[in-house]
Amino acid sequence: MAILVAHPMKRSPSGLAPIIAIDRKGPEPLHRQIYDAYRTAIVDGSLRPGQRIPSTRVLASELGVSRFPVLNAYAQLLAEGYFTSRIGAGTVVSSSLPDQFSSTAPAGTRVAATRSGPRTVASRCSMLPRLGVSPWLLGWGAFGVGQVAADHFPLHIWSNLVARRSRNMDARAFHYGEGLGSKALRETIAGYLKTARSVHCDAEQIMVVSGSQQALQIAAGVLVDPGNPVWIEEPGYRMAREVFALAGSHLIPVPVDREGLDVAAGIKRARKARVAYITPSHQFPLGHTMSASRRLQLLDWAQSTGSWIIEDDYDSEYRYESLPVAAVQGIDADSRVIYIGTFSKVLFPSLRLGYVVIPSDLVDRFLAFRRVTDISPPGLYQEVLADFIREGHFARHIRRMRVLYHERRSTLVASIQEELGSMVQVLGSEAGMHLTVVLPDGSPDVEIAHRAAQQNLWIWPLSTSYVTDAVRPGFILGFGNTPAAEIPQGVRELRNLLTGK
Ligand SMILES: Cc1ncc(COP(=O)(O)O)c(C=O)c1O
Repeated sequence: MAILVAHPMKRSPSGLAPIIAIDRKGPEPLHRQIYDAYRTAIVDGSLRPGQRIPSTRVLASELGVSRFPVLNAYAQLLAEGYFTSRIGAGTVVSSSLPDQFSSTAPAGTRVAATRSGPRTVASRCSMLPRLGVSPWLLGWGAFGVGQVAADHFPLHIWSNLVARRSRNMDARAFHYGEGLGSKALRETIAGYLKTARSVHCDAEQIMVVSGSQQALQIAAGVLVDPGNPVWIEEPGYRMAREVFALAGSHLIPVPVDREGLDVAAGIKRARKARVAYITPSHQFPLGHTMSASRRLQLLDWAQSTGSWIIEDDYDSEYRYESLPVAAVQGIDADSRVIYIGTFSKVLFPSLRLGYVVIPSDLVDRFLAFRRVTDISPPGLYQEVLADFIREGHFARHIRRMRVLYHERRSTLVASIQEELGSMVQVLGSEAGMHLTVVLPDGSPDVEIAHRAAQQNLWIWPLSTSYVTDAVRPGFILGFGNTPAAEIPQGVRELRNLLTGK
């Protein structure tokens, strides 16, 4: 057989070539083999219009053939319109293909036509919801949850630090990093946590991760066996719930009230839970702060049953009415708390940097688990972030954002009062970048959120945060990325949606 065209592209200095298996003993001449390989790759969409083609010299050397067959093949492909030559740009795949192929599907969209045999995937994977069905998770703009004021980020400072670090990468920085993450960054995080969050830790207990999500994944992997009961807040953070569900744990929804997680209810439902997952500084999504007595009760429970507490402290840097509340980890005398923090709110979520403070005796376990996930976190942005914190930009940015978000939050609360009045109850506006409005029982929050998304209002339906039937409808409204001037209009649109106008 003469020719094989495989799909993965092979990189060359001047452009991309399909993989061409040359058969010197086959009946087809070499130029025909090369021609057929390109033609097939163009027709099946593996090579796209406008894509650069390697020079004849480069391809001949890669294939280990003389230049003549390559020149011949290219000449034919040019003559038939598969290639075009652009002065200064070399040879590229033509954007208008010869007629006989114009009726086929667009390049790159073709998929294998036939499939046979079972295509079974893990059942725990198929239980995960598909992102596409929840438009509010994807939209960018008014009331989007977890969205920061990107236009207020000190990009000039950040980009200077990125440039400085990239220019000065030493040879060691090209290799795998430490499993715990950059020492420089861990030391700055430890300093910050001790001062700002009353967390007890040193740099050797800190693992830099790609956001809280990876911290949760590693913690669940280290701590939870399939079938173990795990307390989750009800309502709670869906992304945490799904991590524990994927780990095969037995989810125990524990109600939250104004004092946070109802520890007594948890004990009643599953005293011997392996883990309790909590958001004590700003409960997600209802926004309550866990009371001191509940914190102590939870720690007592964990100590007496040998359970672990996972404290997700995702947005406590922003508190508007009072000083930030100290972390549960800081009053834990028995090293039962795994403390998770993130830079997603204080900087920006696409950075994918967070950290976990691990009890000393579990550090090796976390490291072993991390090794089989991503080995170590990417190096460059860790060093940039360490510089950003050390040079004072981080503290300054938080101070500025606190003022900005305070204004946005106050405008949102005032607009809700004015437009929605007694129709809703506002919760959790004392901290963070979102608040929650609770609607009368039975309100169709999911349906309204779908309609709101069509008007570019990205409100999250509260009912999706519950696992039991004891659902309260409402919305989670982000204000981080919604300028104060746009908030009143957004709330008016929300009122119209609620009143069916
Ligand atoms: C409860 C909670 N934890 C953590 C996060 C942040 O996750 P990550 O650090 O993976 O971006 C969020 C974001 O909305 C959150 O609501």
